[in-house]
Amino acid sequence: MLGTRGGWRALRYCSSSLPREQRFPAARLRVREALGSREAAGKVKVQGWVRSVRSQKEVLFLHINDGSSLESLQVVADPSLECRDLTFGSAVEVQGKLVKSPHKMQDVELQAEAIRVVGPCDTLSFPFKIKERHPLEYFRQFPHLRCRSNALGALLRIRSEATAAILSFFQDNGYVHIHTPIITSNDCEGAGELFQIGTSQEAKESAEKNHFFNVPTFLTVSGQLHLEAMAGAFTRVFTFGPTFRAENSQSRRHLAEFYMVEAELSFTESLQDIMQVMEHLFKTATSTVFSKCPRDVELFHKYVAPAQKGRLEQMMKNKFVIISYNEAVEILKQASQTFNFKPEWGCDLQTEHEKYLVKHCGEVPVFVINYPYNLKPFYMRDNEDGPQHTVAAVDLLVPGIGELCGGSLREERLPFLESRLQRLGLTDAYQWYLDLRKFGSVPHGGFGMGFERYLQYILGVDNIKDVIPFPRFPHSCLL
Ligand code: 4AD
Ligand code: MG
Repeated sequence: MLGTRGGWRALRYCSSSLPREQRFPAARLRVREALGSREAAGKVKVQGWVRSVRSQKEVLFLHINDGSSLESLQVVADPSLECRDLTFGSAVEVQGKLVKSPHKMQDVELQAEAIRVVGPCDTLSFPFKIKERHPLEYFRQFPHLRCRSNALGALLRIRSEATAAILSFFQDNGYVHIHTPIITSNDCEGAGELFQIGTSQEAKESAEKNHFFNVPTFLTVSGQLHLEAMAGAFTRVFTFGPTFRAENSQSRRHLAEFYMVEAELSFTESLQDIMQVMEHLFKTATSTVFSKCPRDVELFHKYVAPAQKGRLEQMMKNKFVIISYNEAVEILKQASQTFNFKPEWGCDLQTEHEKYLVKHCGEVPVFVINYPYNLKPFYMRDNEDGPQHTVAAVDLLVPGIGELCGGSLREERLPFLESRLQRLGLTDAYQWYLDLRKFGSVPHGGFGMGFERYLQYILGVDNIKDVIPFPRFPHSCLL
């Protein structure tokens, strides 16, 4: 095969005066499709960005990537097709024949007949260098360009597959997809971590009174309360959308804007049922992602978190562990390790506690259930126990991350909810929510899973900023 390479007639379409359509009459193939065709497929056209250029005396080798797969397509061309603009990072259109490759590394290669540089790339100022393996922290400085790297390309394809897998999970299990509002006046979690909304005019005039919606509005912290309204008509609902928290935390697992998957199940009286859905969702989505984009996942499990694959395979085979908050506090109190925050009944579990609990249980996902009443939001169902008063809450903790999901049974009993809202001074604001308990109230519950934390966990990525399309730095929005 190589022997024929030197004999090609160089067709330098870069300088051709033929109309564009006539120059490129061949069928357009994506790199993934080209690589998938195990044998010669005749005349084709491939468009993408150059990942490598290697010029030899007899032959010119290129690798072209178009984002459809981690692997690039090898292009072999006569050296006369090389031109000054054909560099790493340039956008090109290559026409030629897809032929069987003599190389072991790939089944097919593209024998170029014409190469057109669509968009040149100034390699000197381009921040990524050919053949250099840049760390994820380096890419973070270039939010607008980092999708061109192998690592972020793989991540974004995985993110896309994971989104599809989660949507299919719910559709396949009979859930109705609800688009819950992004602009709302409720603070579901009651933690005051809200971004307030105003028009640009309001901001200019700093008008306190004339709110666009007549009431103060915020970017949603959770779609749960809206899902609960829907759970009064549909027994299974879910939402999957952007969520916002003004936590001002720069930790490696917090974002101001993140995606949350939330589900609500009516006629549900036990936390067991909620945990079953969480576990089922996690395992189904993960095995779908692993089977849909094995090479992309492998990149992370090879270079980013080498031991993660085996750990996840093991975890998928076993049931998640369940412990109560009371047990968790006892485990922490008996720990030989000293914590920055002393474990005490009634205090929230800190990241260091979550990590210890996961380790104590054998580095597997752990459900912690029944948290102190005073720690949790108003909507959680009172367990009516004592003297250590708890609610039917559940958090799923996972190795390396801590809390991945948070959920609960909801307080469906009107008198309980009324008195709790009254004590919090929230009765007026939540009249509509109380209505849900007046008209056909049923026991129900649900949960939310942080999508970025999910990706972080399955791929073993340390910093949450590396699993989003555009990383932002607090107080300096770059894009
Ligand atoms: O535990 P949270 O606050 O639960 C709720 O919002 C419930 N209303 C959900 C429900 O029951 N429908 O948040 C759920 C999950 C967390 O477990 C975490 O994974 C993720 O959302 N999360 C964040 N992810 C990234 N950055 C942040 N700042 C996050 N805050 C929460
Ligand atoms: Mg939580």
